[in-house]
Amino acid sequence: MRGVKIGSATLELVEGDITKQDTEAIANAANTSLLGGGGVDGAIHRAGGPQILEECRRIGGCPTGEARITTGGRLPARWVIHTVGPVYRDGRHGEAELLARAYRNSLSLASEHGIRTVAFPSISTGAYGYPLAEAARIALTTARDCLTAHPGIALVRFVLFGQAAYRAYDAALAQLVPDAS
Ligand code: APR
Repeated sequence: MRGVKIGSATLELVEGDITKQDTEAIANAANTSLLGGGGVDGAIHRAGGPQILEECRRIGGCPTGEARITTGGRLPARWVIHTVGPVYRDGRHGEAELLARAYRNSLSLASEHGIRTVAFPSISTGAYGYPLAEAARIALTTARDCLTAHPGIALVRFVLFGQAAYRAYDAALAQLVPDAS
C-alpha cells in the first residue's frame, strides 16, 4: 500500500478486490450497454446482486468517457459509479483523452453526490487492452488534478488486481510524486 497527500486529500494504491472496498463509492469498468460483462464488471454485479443491473437497465447505457451512478446493492459501498473506458487500438484514436475523461467524469459525479471516498479499478487495462504503464500514468495524473478541483473528495483509492497492476501504478505514482511513501 502507498499513499500520498494531495492538499488535504489522500491518493492511495492498494492491491486487492474492488468489491470488498468500504469506500462510499466504487467505480466499475463497464461497457456502453451498462448491461454487465466479465472482469471487474462481472465481479461487481455478482457481489452486489441483481439490483445494480436493474438500475443500469433503467439508465439505458453510457457513452465512452462518461459515467453513470447506481446504488451498490449488497456491496459494502453505497454507490457504484459505472464508467466506460476506451478500447485501446494504437494510441492514436483519442484513447488517452477518453481514459482521462472516464476518471474525470466519475469524480465529478461523485462530487455532485457529496461522495467523499471513491475506489477505482484500473479502467481499460483488462479486456480493453490499454497498456498498463500508460494507463496508470493517465489515471493517477487525472485523479490528482480532480482532487484539487473537488475539495469535497477526501480519498481516491486505486484497487489493483494482482502484482503487475500494482507495480505499474506504484511506478507511475513514484514518477508523479517523487516523495510518495
Ligand atoms: N477488483 C479490482 N480489479 C479487478 C477485479 C476486481 N475484482 N477484477 C478484475 N480487475 C481488473 C483487471 O485485472 C484489470 O486490470 O480490472 C482491470 C480492468 O479490466 P476489465 O474488467 O477487463 O475492464 P476493461 O479493460 O475496462 O474492459 C471493460 O470488460 O467486463 C467487460 O463489461 C466490461 O466490456 C467491458 C470491458
